[in-house]
Amino acid sequence: MLVEKNVPLQPYNTFGIVARAQALLRVGAEADLLALAADARWQAEPKFVLGGGSNVVLTGDVRALVLKMEIKGMRVLEETERAWIVEAGAGELWHDLVGWTLDQGLPGLENLALIPGTVGAAPVQNIGAYGVELQDRFESLDAFDLLTGRFFVLDAAQCAFGYRDSVFKHAAADGADLSAMPRGFGLAGRAVITRVRLRLPKAWQPELGYLDLERRRQQEGVDRPQARQIFDWVCDIRRAKLPDPSVIGNAGSFFKNPSVSPEQCSDIIAREPRIVHYPMPDGSVKLAAGWLIDACGWKGKSVGKAGVYEKQALVLVNRGQGSDSVTGGEVMTLARAIQTSVYERFGIRLEPEPVVV
Ligand code: EPU
Repeated sequence: MLVEKNVPLQPYNTFGIVARAQALLRVGAEADLLALAADARWQAEPKFVLGGGSNVVLTGDVRALVLKMEIKGMRVLEETERAWIVEAGAGELWHDLVGWTLDQGLPGLENLALIPGTVGAAPVQNIGAYGVELQDRFESLDAFDLLTGRFFVLDAAQCAFGYRDSVFKHAAADGADLSAMPRGFGLAGRAVITRVRLRLPKAWQPELGYLDLERRRQQEGVDRPQARQIFDWVCDIRRAKLPDPSVIGNAGSFFKNPSVSPEQCSDIIAREPRIVHYPMPDGSVKLAAGWLIDACGWKGKSVGKAGVYEKQALVLVNRGQGSDSVTGGEVMTLARAIQTSVYERFGIRLEPEPVVV
């Protein structure tokens, strides 16, 4: 087992923040995790799982052993009368999986094109875009329990998916028995996702509920677009609105869209008639965090080298380059200033989406 020391993490986080891992293990296969569990030196040490680094803010060097997930492989595992079950290694890039499924003639993931990050990170925050969330296509996953040194399988219910949320984001209860896992049980810091299986139904329907996509369909004058066409539209829409992390460092949406009660929403509408809001199936109302931040005048502003993206106020960006990059501290200072002004004006607390380390 090769543990690398003092490894620069700047290439491994899409914000491009300068930080180092005191120790890093590349996990290219399940056997690497078994070797880790068998190694007494690392048993009690804290560990930090790193996927594509597209949803983290590093506020300093990482002292925990970084597990860099590099398990590869994509295959059609099973074909039933109704669906294809596709399996991918945690270290594959999510967008590559979306493209590969379409190349195989398997539609269903096209709305999730161009989301940065790896396959293994996708269930952690239940990635979603343009009317589809990972949970809508999820079948099951394999994970490794760092506490017991065993592999286990979770289905969708056990993952406890929510809006940008899952069991993997919540703290683990010490020593709890996974086989009796109740809903809401936390696996953060304990489970390492190694493979993910998705169910792609043969009865495919285009998902065009999201306004930007429907508008595009009308412009193009297409009645019933194919999956490949939706993939291309989603890529275009994202490229026009969201910064490419290989050019401008960022971690996608920095805050979750907050949810309020219909009463709270009516109060806010009375004061701010233009507020962008969406009624949810559970009766709550989701507000567009980007709109709230924009309304507070933050779009295009900077604090030090941390900036608010000009075309989408929900995205914080790195205005530095190379060794002169933004620090995690600067990003969090900007994030807190935004939270304060949104709270003072609207009485709403914004919750960050990325993991702050
Ligand atoms: N808006 C503004 N000003 C802004 C930004 C947005 O007024 O600066 C308004 C827009 O005009 C629009 C509304 O806010 O009416 C919503 O904006 P948008 O359609 O861009 O979507 P979003 O709610 O900001 C969410 C996800 C994205 C996902 C898109 C498309 C969250 C936190 N973000 O963004 O996910 O791609 O919808 O489905 O739910 C991510 O999680 O990293 C991410 C990019």
